[in-house]
Amino acid sequence: MKTIDYRSDTLTEPTEAMRDAMRDAAVGDDQYGEDPTANQLEELAAQKLSKEAGLFTPSGMMANLAALMTHAQRGDSVILDDQQHIFTSEAGSVSSIAGLLPRLVQSENGVMDPGDVEFVMKNAYPPVTVVCSENTHNMSGGTVITPGELGALAEVVHSCGAKLHLDGARIFNAAVALDIDASEIAAEVDSVMFCLSKGLSAPVGSVLVGDADFISQARKVRKMLGGAMRQAGVLAAAGIVALDDMVDRLEEDHRNARRLAEGIVGLGVFEVDLDTVQTDMVNVDGASRGWSAERMVKELKALGILVNGRPPSRVRMVVNRHHSETDIDETLNRVASLM
Ligand SMILES: Cc1ncc(COP(=O)(O)O)c(C=O)c1O
Repeated sequence: MKTIDYRSDTLTEPTEAMRDAMRDAAVGDDQYGEDPTANQLEELAAQKLSKEAGLFTPSGMMANLAALMTHAQRGDSVILDDQQHIFTSEAGSVSSIAGLLPRLVQSENGVMDPGDVEFVMKNAYPPVTVVCSENTHNMSGGTVITPGELGALAEVVHSCGAKLHLDGARIFNAAVALDIDASEIAAEVDSVMFCLSKGLSAPVGSVLVGDADFISQARKVRKMLGGAMRQAGVLAAAGIVALDDMVDRLEEDHRNARRLAEGIVGLGVFEVDLDTVQTDMVNVDGASRGWSAERMVKELKALGILVNGRPPSRVRMVVNRHHSETDIDETLNRVASLM
C-alpha cells in the first residue's frame, strides 16, 4: 500500500530544474557579498514583493527572529496572536533569544482586531515596538488575510509608532488564493519573511525583505545567529527556480485540498470547516466521532495516510505538488473504510 503523506508542504522535494540549477550555480563567498546567485535571489525576492532589499536565510524561523531582533530591542514588547507560529512553534526564541515580551491577542482565523491591538499598544509596558501577523495562517488551516485586513492593522500599528512584520511563510499561497500579486500584501507591512522550502519546493531557505536600512541591520543579526553562509548560491539557485516557476502552480495544491476537504465532508466520517479551506491545508476534526488527535493520527497511519495532530481533536493535512487527484481519491477511499 502506497503511503500518502500529508504532514506538511515542507516534504516537497526539489524539482529537476532546481537540481540542475544547483549544480550549475555560479558561487562566491556570501559573507563577502560575493555570491552572485545569492545576491540574485535576494534582488529577485525584493522585486517580487516590491521592497528595497532582501536577505537569504537558512530557515523561516531564523528570518522571523532576525526581523524581530532588528525591529525591536531586548526588553520591548511584541504583539502576536496566540496561534502564531512564532509563538507556538519556534521554541520560544522570541523570548529566549530576542528578549521580547509576547503580548498575545486572539485572532479570527489569523485576523486580529485592530481595536484589540491598539488597546494593548496603548496600555502595555514595556512598550510594543513590533507587531506580527501571519499569512496564510497555519493553525487556522492556511486561511488568508487580505491586504485590506492587513492595512487596517498597519494603520493602528504605525499610529502607535511600531513596525508590522509579516510571517509570510506561505504568502504566495495567499496571493494565489486571492488572485493578486504578493506585493499587494507586502505593501501593507514593514517586513515580510517567506519560505522557499514549503509548497514552492526548494530544499532549503527563506528570504526576509524590507527597506534597505532594515535589511542591512538584519544581515548583521543573521550573522549573530550563526546564519551567515559561504557558497550559498548552491541553495539560492533552487530558490530562484522556486520563485520563477513554482508560484502559479500552487493553485493546483489549493484545488486538490478543496477536493480532499469536500470529499471528507461528503463521507461524513469527520468534520471539516470548509470556510477555512482556502489554500493547501485541511484541518480535519474527529470530535463528533469522539476521537482525539492522537487516535486520528494512529488510525489514519494504519491506512497508510500520514497527518500531523492538532490536539485536542484535529489533524492537519497539507496537500503538495507530490499529490495527484488520484492520491486524493485514494485517500478518500481509505477514509471511507472507517465508515
Ligand atoms: C507559518 C510558519 N512560519 C514559519 C515557519 C518556519 O519555517 P522554517 O521551517 O523554514 O524555519 C513555518 C514552518 O512550518 C510556518 O509554518
